[in-house]
Amino acid sequence: TTQPLSPTPPMGFNNWARYECNLDQQLFTETADWMVNHGLLKAGYDTVTVDDCWMTMDRDPATRNLVVNTTLFPQGMLWLGKYLHDRGFKFGIYQDAGYQTCGGYPGSLGHYELDVAQFASWEVDYIKLDGCYVNRNESLPESPTLEPTFRQLYEGFGHAIQSQARPMVYSESAPAYFAGLSAGTGDRVGRDWYKVHTWIGQYGQLWRHSTDISVYKKDGKSRWPSVMTNYRFNIRLARFQKPGNWNDPDFIITGDDEGLTIEEQKSQFGLWSIMASPLILSTDVKNLRLEQVTYLTNPDIIAINQDPLGIQGRIAWRNEESDILVKPLQNVSIRAAAVLNKRNVVSTISVPFSRLGYTFQPTDVPAGCEYLVRELFSQSEEVLKVLNPRNESITSILRPHATALFKITTLTNLA
Ligand code: GLA
Repeated sequence: TTQPLSPTPPMGFNNWARYECNLDQQLFTETADWMVNHGLLKAGYDTVTVDDCWMTMDRDPATRNLVVNTTLFPQGMLWLGKYLHDRGFKFGIYQDAGYQTCGGYPGSLGHYELDVAQFASWEVDYIKLDGCYVNRNESLPESPTLEPTFRQLYEGFGHAIQSQARPMVYSESAPAYFAGLSAGTGDRVGRDWYKVHTWIGQYGQLWRHSTDISVYKKDGKSRWPSVMTNYRFNIRLARFQKPGNWNDPDFIITGDDEGLTIEEQKSQFGLWSIMASPLILSTDVKNLRLEQVTYLTNPDIIAINQDPLGIQGRIAWRNEESDILVKPLQNVSIRAAAVLNKRNVVSTISVPFSRLGYTFQPTDVPAGCEYLVRELFSQSEEVLKVLNPRNESITSILRPHATALFKITTLTNLA
């Protein structure tokens, strides 16, 4: 069998959550340069994607091709693609399956082959296909025909991609349109949300399944509820994930120091890492602080996220106060665990070793072992002799909304 496209979760940069439509060529060239010079490319952040608002309002009347806004992108998209390729990046671009993009620019409906051929001619490596205006009237409630319609369109666009010689990663937004979030239904998902997930992975490599992570705004409001909503939606989809098929809970917003505390920023990154979620930064990378760049490029954390098994970390245990996630890794003598403090006060949380099993059964953690337990944000470590996994625990003192992320290595079997 051949290696799937995106055998590990995609990593990179997208402008949307930080800049929305305030984008131009220089933003992407400067961001890419900075990512090279500060070790982000080397750490794996290798896909730079131009989101919505890059085109003009009309297709070319003669060819029907999409037209780049040359005020924003004076050298055009082939030039930008080459600029990125020359530095070792992959080039991503945004379009929409419907009549219009979410920002009101020409959508791809009726022109899938043409648009995909144009992207291939620009040496595009990654296409994010949104799902706005699949209905002419966006306010239509979920109808019985909506899910089959989305399936037909996303499958059709997938075929258009496959008909090109150039491999292009296909990021599908279809599931997000069934999450039921826009209707203010809280965590109750839309009628056909799970159904969309039964076919979405046949056509593409990753899919957005929930609403947008809050965009950058200096309005004094916390972005934590938005991060937690997408986290909870992602948790429910663990079974759909495998190498080449990734649940996408949306952007990493480290750098939004107004919207999230530093603990919350690390928490999002730690949770996305253990869930093997795409790590797509949407931030002003040039103004990241050393502390932020350090954890974003931490090789142990990236290795957990990019582990070849591609298994999404799952909830091993939870209560009002905390969530414990466990993720099996290819190396059977290492496991990853995360402890999230959901409360907005400092909490001391102890996790017995018996809760850290791969099969989520207490018997799954062998007795009589010595473990090296390393917390990856603080880089602190200790060796623990575990004679009885029910009696021995890992204890963390966690600030409000903080996450501890552990790499637990079996050193010796004392038996
Ligand atoms: C939707 C998507 C966002 C972004 C915008 C662009 O809201 O979910 O990620 O692509 O459209 O208009």
